[in-house]
Amino acid sequence: MRRPRFTPLVEAIPATVPFVAPDALLRRGHRIEVRLGANESAFGVAPRAAEAMARAVPHQNWYADPESFELRAKLAGLLGVTEQHLLVGSGIDDLLGLVVRCFVAPGEVAVMARGSYPTFAYHVVGHGGLVEAVPYRDDAVDLEALAEAATRRRARVVYLANPDNPSGSWHTPQSVEALVERLPADCLLLLDEAYLEFAPRAPELSADDPRVLRVRTFSKLYGMAGARIGYAVGPPEIVATFHKVRLHFGVNGVAQAGALAALDDVAFATSVIAEVARGRQAYAALGRELGLPTLPSATNFVLFDVGGAARARALLDALLAEGIFIRMPGAPPLDRAVRVTVGTADERARFASALRGMRADGRLAALGAG
Ligand SMILES: Cc1ncc(COP(=O)(O)O)c(C=O)c1O
Repeated sequence: MRRPRFTPLVEAIPATVPFVAPDALLRRGHRIEVRLGANESAFGVAPRAAEAMARAVPHQNWYADPESFELRAKLAGLLGVTEQHLLVGSGIDDLLGLVVRCFVAPGEVAVMARGSYPTFAYHVVGHGGLVEAVPYRDDAVDLEALAEAATRRRARVVYLANPDNPSGSWHTPQSVEALVERLPADCLLLLDEAYLEFAPRAPELSADDPRVLRVRTFSKLYGMAGARIGYAVGPPEIVATFHKVRLHFGVNGVAQAGALAALDDVAFATSVIAEVARGRQAYAALGRELGLPTLPSATNFVLFDVGGAARARALLDALLAEGIFIRMPGAPPLDRAVRVTVGTADERARFASALRGMRADGRLAALGAG
């Protein structure tokens, strides 16, 4: 029997899995005792969010507010914008898809750093767009190359994760503001600020600037990756356009209640930011001790340079065999490194002791050989 045909666009997309989830590794028989691969928060759900989510569970027989109004009102007050500048989605991943759908027509170009967060490229390809990927420079996103490629390819969107995943690099507010000025007219800067709270400062960009849209998440600082909730801040005209095509009941009520309460959990947020900063320093010290230099990071993860992609892959596998889940960047030049989320003090100790054990028995030196 013949099946109904797929659209030519979907038919042409190669099968891809952007990430192998830890759940899939478990199903394949791996044991995961220390989970440091997915840049989740090691510090749990913000307690106030957890309580609010528990209180919301009995109401899951109702559809949630499709406007996420209370959350938008709260965010508007905190950010000094109006509710019309805000759109809530089921995580940044959802919002990236909306941006691509609204700005990149089939055959049009979007620009990003090669090897940066792959979900953006996934959406571009899924909507029939073309990805122009520019290499990192000095292990950081190359803002000049982004602007140059956007001009050369008449791009519709430039995607910048700032801070960036997986490099961990961060550009100053002034550099980001200068990038906005250099982009061609009719090109949107999509600023992914998933890790903003771990960085020194945020750029001062007006939420009314029609050239910029920022996206943020509750997945990282507030420990709500599984709840799937994030938001976009930008000009009301862009937000209103998203309403034409977005999934109106796509953000569940438990997540909305949790996000609203998380914003009040300032003590928790402050403690996570401090602990992440401590963990980054501890990783840097460990890297120095073991001869695996770390790259500067403005995020909740750190890259350890192990000197080559084969060595990085071998280290990943060796650690997984010891129950420690980490990941590595997917593209050169950063695939010479492994990426390790900042864990709790206990998790960091487990990771450090596994590496020290590998150094002691010679496995670290022999990585990737043969
Ligand atoms: C740069 C970047 N953007 C977005 C996300 C995903 O955010 P969310 O959980 O809100 O979809 C991640 C997750 O790792 C990320 O690294």
